[in-house]
Amino acid sequence: MGNLTHLSIALDGPAGSGKSSVAKQLANELNIHYLDTGAMYRAVAFAALEKGIDPKDAATVESLLKATSITVHFEQGNQRVYIDDIDVTANIRTSAVSNAASDIAMHPSVRYKLAEMQRAVASQYDIVVDGRDIGTFVLPEAEYKFFLTASEEVRAKRRFKENKENGIPSELEDLRMEIKQRDYNDTHRELAPLKQAEDAIKIDSSDLTLEEVVGAIMSYVKGGQQS
Ligand code: CDP
Ligand code: CDP
Repeated sequence: MGNLTHLSIALDGPAGSGKSSVAKQLANELNIHYLDTGAMYRAVAFAALEKGIDPKDAATVESLLKATSITVHFEQGNQRVYIDDIDVTANIRTSAVSNAASDIAMHPSVRYKLAEMQRAVASQYDIVVDGRDIGTFVLPEAEYKFFLTASEEVRAKRRFKENKENGIPSELEDLRMEIKQRDYNDTHRELAPLKQAEDAIKIDSSDLTLEEVVGAIMSYVKGGQQS
């Protein structure tokens, strides 16, 4: 797995727990990179949907993975994801891709390949990495590990609000069901399921603002850096 000579912060948790918003702000405040690993699963899912491949079909997804090049670049500090030299960053945020990514993420071949890429990126930069298995599987030796949670109700409401603000029509009940299904998939897969690492600090953000969560994490990271 290699030695991490750079600062690494692992941020795991279920969908809507606030990982990406928190990670973005942390990366900004600490002036470090942010690797969004979910975007990589989403990119593979997008490629599968484009080619009419069933994301649950392990053998066909594996062939797709062998025939496809997935890369991550940082452009002005912002992550871009490419599939065969095509920038798909703007195409991977739909509900269809979210659900397909959740199915794609069950296949060990996908997880091994993406985890290896994630370790390679983390070895190059001071970085905050968010996902489901960063503290347990991708970077078990990360310097800081946080596990973000929030109730299912709160997470569905956050997504609903986000969609509304972005002009995306959605029903709260549908979002709640989607989150339930993705939680189930994430916690029940065989390889690297969503689970709090033993040495991770748990933060329940149900009643916390984004700023409060970032503040809590910053106090650990700054305190740790001084000691
Ligand atoms: O933003 P949200 O939490 O809804 O999802 P995401 O982080 O973009 O991840 C998309 C999907 O990829 C999730 O439903 C997870 O099942 C999967 N994923 C994973 O299995 N492992 C990771 N390290 C990151 C994402
Ligand atoms: O990446 P993940 O799916 O874990 O969550 P996110 O996309 O960062 O957060 C989902 C939504 O919840 C965003 O619109 C955030 O602004 C919001 N949020 C919040 O209202 N309060 C928090 N403590 C964290 C996130």
